Amino acid sequence: MKLLRIFCLYPCALAFALAAILIGFFSQAHIPEGRAFATIIPLAGGYLPATIVGDSWWEDRTPTPRVPANLMPAARPSGEKFVPLLGTQDNFPMLGLGLCCRATAYDFHSVSRSVLWYLLKGGRHLDAAYLYMNNEAIGHAIAAAADRGVPRSELFVTSKLGPRFFSGLSPEVELKLMLQQLGLDYLDLVLLHHPEGIGGMIGKCANGTAAECRANAWVKLSALRAQGLIRNLGVSNFQISQIQPLEALGLAPVSVNQVQYNPWAPDWQQDVVDYCQKKGIVVTAWSPFQGTMMQHASLFTVQSLQEVARAKGKTVAQVMLRWALQKGVVAIPGTSNPAHMDENLAAYSFELTAGEMAVIDGVRSDPKAKGFVAIGFEKNDS
Ligand SMILES: NC(=O)c1ccc[n+]([C@@H]2O[C@H](COP(=O)([O-])OP(=O)(O)OC[C@H]3O[C@@H](n4cnc5c(N)ncnc54)[C@H](OP(=O)(O)O)[C@@H]3O)[C@@H](O)[C@H]2O)c1
Repeated sequence: MKLLRIFCLYPCALAFALAAILIGFFSQAHIPEGRAFATIIPLAGGYLPATIVGDSWWEDRTPTPRVPANLMPAARPSGEKFVPLLGTQDNFPMLGLGLCCRATAYDFHSVSRSVLWYLLKGGRHLDAAYLYMNNEAIGHAIAAAADRGVPRSELFVTSKLGPRFFSGLSPEVELKLMLQQLGLDYLDLVLLHHPEGIGGMIGKCANGTAAECRANAWVKLSALRAQGLIRNLGVSNFQISQIQPLEALGLAPVSVNQVQYNPWAPDWQQDVVDYCQKKGIVVTAWSPFQGTMMQHASLFTVQSLQEVARAKGKTVAQVMLRWALQKGVVAIPGTSNPAHMDENLAAYSFELTAGEMAVIDGVRSDPKAKGFVAIGFEKNDS
């Protein structure tokens, strides 16, 4: 009996208690899946998450350096490119800063420093989301950049609303809360973050079918757009069949679809990109280095990409970004490293030849690309 208690009852009780604490910790958050990402991604990168240890733990430990107090804004990047958006014709900068999915995307100090570095280096496009739970840090940096002479009117701020908030009056309530967290009067672009929930499961809309929820969110966000709180509306991770019903509503045009896009995107993803580009819907490539969940290292080891980069006197990261630009696709690499920001913004200022583009297109058939983990390439037809 004593052995049974030691080897079964006690461990089981401990496991249950631990599970209950974890479920409580995540489910009590306003965005449970957001808190899960903000906890798991730093842990996977070898850091203690700010969700557990607080932001101050990071202040002297983040690898993102402090921004010198006397650093003033640099000129905008040479060769900067824009694409016009349907409806408003707003100029959408083709390179932006991604704000999730790395260890340094979830604590106040890393995020506010990264955004301030980026804006002072001449970058103007920020890719945020409600899910990332780092809006206050972004807002703090935007205000700090404004104090140093980077006006709000030059910025292009994108954010995303997840399916958890698609039904009823939630889109309006949560959008206003997000603006308050960011300290902004309006967002340049708001995207429906996923058609149904992450992987079709996590953070789903509770009231109605996925299609009804998307339509409700589009109606509510279009009304906010008419009030001036949002300039442009778009979607993310949507299939053609999920975009068409929104177009048919005849409200705000679908101006952007943000999808994972790189040379090894599956054929069905390429079909979505082709459809969007034919209709004038701008495609934004998330995870242009296959970075989400730390897979970018595999991309940087592909020999054909290294050869193009070497011949060009550029890095693999730069030729990948340039490849996206020349495909007419906006790219939002995530980084908290100021040197990588310089490197990425310099992708505006050179050109790949047709032959070099063809080599990069050919990565599709590189045996190494088959080993890349295709997180985000799950097809959702809801
Ligand atoms: N809509 C969606 O569902 C969705 C999903 C995922 C991501 N996103 C968006 O897309 C953005 C980009 O995706 P991601 O951040 O996951 O992946 P990514 O941009 O492909 O890769 C990010 C990784 O690349 C590294 N990196 C950046 N520039 C580099 C350079 N020049 N040289 C070497 N390494 C470099 C970064 O590390 P360092 O910090 O060390 O530079 C980071 O670990 C996100 O931040 C987010 O805004 C959207």
